[in-house]
Amino acid sequence: MIRKLNHVAIAVPDLDQAVGVYRDVLGAEISAPHELPEHGVTAVFVNLNNTSIELMQPLGAASPIRKFLESHTKGGLHHVCYEVEDIFAARDQLIGEGMTIVGDGEPYVGAHDKLVIFLHPKDFLGTLIELEQSS
Ligand code: CO
Repeated sequence: MIRKLNHVAIAVPDLDQAVGVYRDVLGAEISAPHELPEHGVTAVFVNLNNTSIELMQPLGAASPIRKFLESHTKGGLHHVCYEVEDIFAARDQLIGEGMTIVGDGEPYVGAHDKLVIFLHPKDFLGTLIELEQSS
């Protein structure tokens, strides 16, 4: 089902500071910030040869990562994103296995303009998983 790591997302309280760590300390190449109001985050992508790291800071009062940052005040690993060929088939198979999809279970357009769903951490070793349609 999962074929490739698409990205790892790290929630941060201060995006400028986070960019400083990855660009100036770790020497990574970083995209310009993208405001994604429909997802409640401002994000930059750290471009690595084989994948990318998304650094995201809350945008707006209703940001879904605000609560996470209350318990991870210095930032923290928020989710990992794996690619699947067919998001609907993956969703149906996982529901059939009794897994919990976050929200209403319907794939929606994520931050990279591809269909995504999120899998509940309680079923996946305490890790929030994003599945993204690969094409
Ligand atoms: Co993501």
